[in-house]
Amino acid sequence: MNIMNVDYTTKIPNNVNLSEDRQVLKALEGWHPGYIDWWNDMGPDGFQQSLVYLRTAYSVDPRGWAKFDYVKMPDYRWGILLAPQEENRVIPFGERYGEPAWQEVPGEHRAMLRRLIVIQGDTEPASVEQQRHLGKTAPSLYDLRNLFQVNVEEGRHLWAMVYLLQKYFGRDGREEADELLRRRSGDADSPRMLGAFNEKTPDWLSFFMFTYFTDRDGKMQLHSLAQSGFDPLSRTCRFMLTEEAHHMFVGETGISRVVQRTCEAMKDAGISDPSDITKVRGLGVIDLPTIQKKLNLHYSLSLDLFGSEVSTNAANAFNAGVKGRYRETQIEDDHRLQSSTYPVLKMVNGQIKRVDEPALTALNMRLRDDYTQDCAKGMLRWNKIIATAGYHFKLTLPNVAFHRQIGEFKDIHATPEGVLIDDATWNKSKSEWLPSTDDGDFIGSLMTPVTGVGGFAPWISPPKVGIDNKPGDFEYVKIET
Ligand SMILES: [Fe+2]
Ligand SMILES: [Fe+2]
Repeated sequence: MNIMNVDYTTKIPNNVNLSEDRQVLKALEGWHPGYIDWWNDMGPDGFQQSLVYLRTAYSVDPRGWAKFDYVKMPDYRWGILLAPQEENRVIPFGERYGEPAWQEVPGEHRAMLRRLIVIQGDTEPASVEQQRHLGKTAPSLYDLRNLFQVNVEEGRHLWAMVYLLQKYFGRDGREEADELLRRRSGDADSPRMLGAFNEKTPDWLSFFMFTYFTDRDGKMQLHSLAQSGFDPLSRTCRFMLTEEAHHMFVGETGISRVVQRTCEAMKDAGISDPSDITKVRGLGVIDLPTIQKKLNLHYSLSLDLFGSEVSTNAANAFNAGVKGRYRETQIEDDHRLQSSTYPVLKMVNGQIKRVDEPALTALNMRLRDDYTQDCAKGMLRWNKIIATAGYHFKLTLPNVAFHRQIGEFKDIHATPEGVLIDDATWNKSKSEWLPSTDDGDFIGSLMTPVTGVGGFAPWISPPKVGIDNKPGDFEYVKIET
């Protein structure tokens, strides 16, 4: 078979020759009903009989890999897709730098690889669970489609990780695959593994923030795993990144459209002060200070996903050749990092200081810095919209010490500017920096669904272009209840 094209003749579409890999095919077919049960219980609430204009991968060729058609979500063909194997690929970092990449799991790194795959796998269904109620309040059919596209692809990412577990990790891999369907986002007894994936996604602004900030953490993690010496993991992650780009597009353009609409409404009403929250809210749009608060929340929650700034686990995974750096192969250094250092922000004598740490243990910090740089691009775009509308207001990323639950800053409080403050000041001021119940209630009050073809809720602008070159007033979802 041609690795570029996906085999749709088996029950589980794939480009890994499953029809000749009976044992793994059987394991996956055995897992399939539980997955469908999970989708029915925890996937999008409602709309399961609706026809959704979705893309499905038919190839892993970057020049053209997806086709669009109307699909009922439960009939979506979730498949196992790996990027083509690179000939003579070598481990691009760590103690085994330059040795041939592994096609099987090396025994000494088995536990570490399994843990990383399980953690990545756990985030995929978690976000679907977090977003399951959003369909009921979608601001348009266009947005509804985008939500469902993200959801079915996160489902596919779960399949991608489950394939690795079942093919390469034997019995304990199968057990982990079952556990991935058992945990639930926000559940008191068996929550998802990472904090941000147990938070609520109560409204569409949260959804856009989540896809901008939290899916972007996913991008960074996938990039690091795409460098892995374990070649099947690398190939899996490389293809997932192709899909992931759309999720972040949904976030970035979603926030752009909210900002755009707010600015237009303020201008039309002759409001000159964007911080006049009462007046702006009176127009039925989300004021910029509240957008900033949502941004503060989602950015800080996502920073926690990078783990502790200084971490021996991260060093071990790098040394082992299991998890590399963002764009490892494009970095010009020795790729072993035995004697280099990296500046890390730490608490020293009650102050935030930059301290040189061994580069190996500072890998989480480095990845987080790369992430922050990537996040900053959105600010430029959104601030341009605000400036073009003639307003003096800037959306900014809060300081990394702000509102943290993991790492160096978890025991202190800091303002979004990074000024250390005591508990009392924090408690008094936090509702200026993070969404309050009132803010949530206001945003919630705007979340009335718009299901007419070509209609958009009044708090968000239509997109500049549609999906798959379709116009904005295309019937992206044929709603059937
Ligand atoms: Fe994903
Ligand atoms: Fe995603």
